Amino acid sequence: MYQIIKPFLFKFDPENIHHFVTGGLRAVNRIWGVKPLLKQAYQLEDNRLEREVFGLKFKNPLGLAAGFDKNADFIEELTEFGFGFIEIGTVTPLPQSGNEKPRMFRLPADEALINRMGFNNQGVDVVAHRLSKLDRKGLIIGGNIGKNKQTPNEDALSDYIKCFDKLFDVVDYFVVNVSSPNTPGLRELQEKEPLKNILNTLQQRNHKNDISRPILLKIAPDLSDSQLDDIIEIVMETKIAGVIATNTTIFREGLTSPGNISKETGGLSGKPLTKRSTEVIRYLSEKSNKAFTIIGVGGIHSAEDAIEKINAGATLVQIYTGFVYEGPGLVKRILKGVLKVVS
Ligand code: FNR
Repeated sequence: MYQIIKPFLFKFDPENIHHFVTGGLRAVNRIWGVKPLLKQAYQLEDNRLEREVFGLKFKNPLGLAAGFDKNADFIEELTEFGFGFIEIGTVTPLPQSGNEKPRMFRLPADEALINRMGFNNQGVDVVAHRLSKLDRKGLIIGGNIGKNKQTPNEDALSDYIKCFDKLFDVVDYFVVNVSSPNTPGLRELQEKEPLKNILNTLQQRNHKNDISRPILLKIAPDLSDSQLDDIIEIVMETKIAGVIATNTTIFREGLTSPGNISKETGGLSGKPLTKRSTEVIRYLSEKSNKAFTIIGVGGIHSAEDAIEKINAGATLVQIYTGFVYEGPGLVKRILKGVLKVVS
């Protein structure tokens, strides 16, 4: 079905289509009798898919990656597609409109996207309030947090603290995003000292509460081996729950799409990222002796891609670009494939 309507959807600007499709989903979901049909078509429930990770119970290991539902607007609708967890954000303390449009580009020949959205979001207060009203039905929600564009890196810590405190009661785990290529200077926070400072401070706040939330660090695929070694050291030292590997890449090697599109500034996602993100997962897992949890993301377009990441060391996986190219049926296809391997 999705493969039939895809050529039509792909005729329009990707960001407009994103809003059109998510809005359409809401309308469809409200039609009486639709939910059981969606459940039957898209969901796969099986207790062999359940995972207990960093103290949380996931109904399956496949999540929707950050950036798709930045403002936690469509969680109820997206849940119908059978995800085991949904990561909202990146959320910043203040609302911001992001970069000028167009800022999202399709590269169909490479089954990829380039985006330079720039953390467009409604701000942490609005998002926290929306989440507080949500009927979660057991779904795990991750809160991916970042800093506002105007905030200089020296003050980034206070932005992460604000988001952490305001989302604490309404998300199940946190992701510290220091790896988006679209906020100037953000990736410099992946350096040892600023990163330790952010993670240690959030951990201290975590331990002041009766319950603590698992904190993960989302990293870029473009780090060198020695930078990855630093990441391992920091994760162990700060005792955070794990790493999300990876965000989008700024590299453009091997693209077959026309030069004008592939030269657009921003982060590249989808198939060209599959191999590199798996390499990062394997490196982190082997070098750390599986000391922490890894959520694998980057170019998963099939069950095989997901299984490869799991075999490389990921406990959970996420998709974004594959969902755009393959459609919602991808979720069930991946889960079926994973089930074959575990059973
Ligand atoms: C993203 N991604 C992202 N990641 C993040 O941590 N915060 C964000 O706000 C966004 N925003 C965003 C927007 C768009 C349009 C895309 C395509 C991606 C990155 C995303 O979560 C994921 O890490 C990468 O896209 C790699 O996975 P896929 O897309 O290859 O499955």
